[in-house]
Amino acid sequence: MLLEVKNLFKEFGGVVANADISLEVGEGMIMGLIGPNGAGKTTLFNCIAGYYRPTRGRILFDGKDITGWPSHQVARIGIARTFQGMKTLSNMTVEENVMVGAFCRTKDREVVRKEALEIMELLDLREKAQSFPSELPIAMQRRIELARALATKPKLLMLDEIAAGLNPLETKEILQTLKRIKEERKLTLFLIEHVMEFIMTISEIVIVMAAGRKIAEGTPEKVAREPKVIEAYLGEKYAKG
Ligand SMILES: Nc1ncnc2c1ncn2[C@@H]1O[C@H](COP(=O)(O)OP(=O)(O)OP(=O)(O)O)[C@@H](O)[C@H]1O
Ligand SMILES: [Mg+2]
Repeated sequence: MLLEVKNLFKEFGGVVANADISLEVGEGMIMGLIGPNGAGKTTLFNCIAGYYRPTRGRILFDGKDITGWPSHQVARIGIARTFQGMKTLSNMTVEENVMVGAFCRTKDREVVRKEALEIMELLDLREKAQSFPSELPIAMQRRIELARALATKPKLLMLDEIAAGLNPLETKEILQTLKRIKEERKLTLFLIEHVMEFIMTISEIVIVMAAGRKIAEGTPEKVAREPKVIEAYLGEKYAKG
C-alpha cells in the first residue's frame, strides 16, 4: 500500500476536524475525496503532508511511519500537494516557482533548472517561463502550482480543489492534463474536489467525509447512491438556505 492512514484524529481546541479517519491508497490509483464545506478534507491533507501534526493516529507511506514528519521531509519521501486557493509565489517568475519544487531534492542549480524546463514543457508553460504568475489567467496559475508540485518528483500527488473557479472547458483540460501526467510520471493521485462531475469522472474510488468523519467509500456510482452521502449534501444545501 502506498499510503495508509490509521485512526487519525485532528482536533483544534474543541473542534474535531478529523475523527477516526482510516484509509488506504494503492500505488497508481486515483482516489477522490469529497464532502461538504468544513468536512475536514483539507485538514486531512495537511496532516498527511506534514503541515499539521495529528492529535492521534498514524500515517504510513511506502510502509514507513511518517506521522508527525515536517513537510519538507514528507516532500522528500515522495508526497507533493497543491493548496486550496492559490499559492503561487507572486514575486517569482513561473520558472522560479517551478524551481522551488525541484530544490527540495537537490541544491544543484543546473539540475534544478533542467528539471524545471522539462516540467514546464510537460505542462505547456515554457513560453511563460519569465512571466509572473499574477499576470497570467487562473487556469495557467493552476498549472504552475501543478508544475511546482511535480518538480518535487512525487510518487503521490495530492490536489486540493485544483479545478475550483475554472470554467467547464478549463476543467476538462486540467482533467486531461492530469490523466496524461499521471501516466507519464507514474503517479498516484489523491484529489479533493467540489466539482462533482470532475471527481466522478476521474476517480476510481471516492471517499466521502462529513463533519470530520469518513461516511462512505467506494466507486463513484456506488457512493453517489448512498443515502448517507445524499443526506450530507442536502444538509449543506439547506444550511446555505
Ligand atoms: N488551523 C485551524 N485552526 C482551527 N480550526 C481549523 C483549522 N483548520 C481547519 N479548522 C477547522 O476544521 C474544520 C474542517 O476544516 P477543513 O478546512 O479541513 O474542511 P474542508 O472539508 O477542507 O472544507 P472546504 O470544503 O470548505 O474546503 C472546520 O471546522 C475548520 O474551521
Ligand atoms: Mg478544504
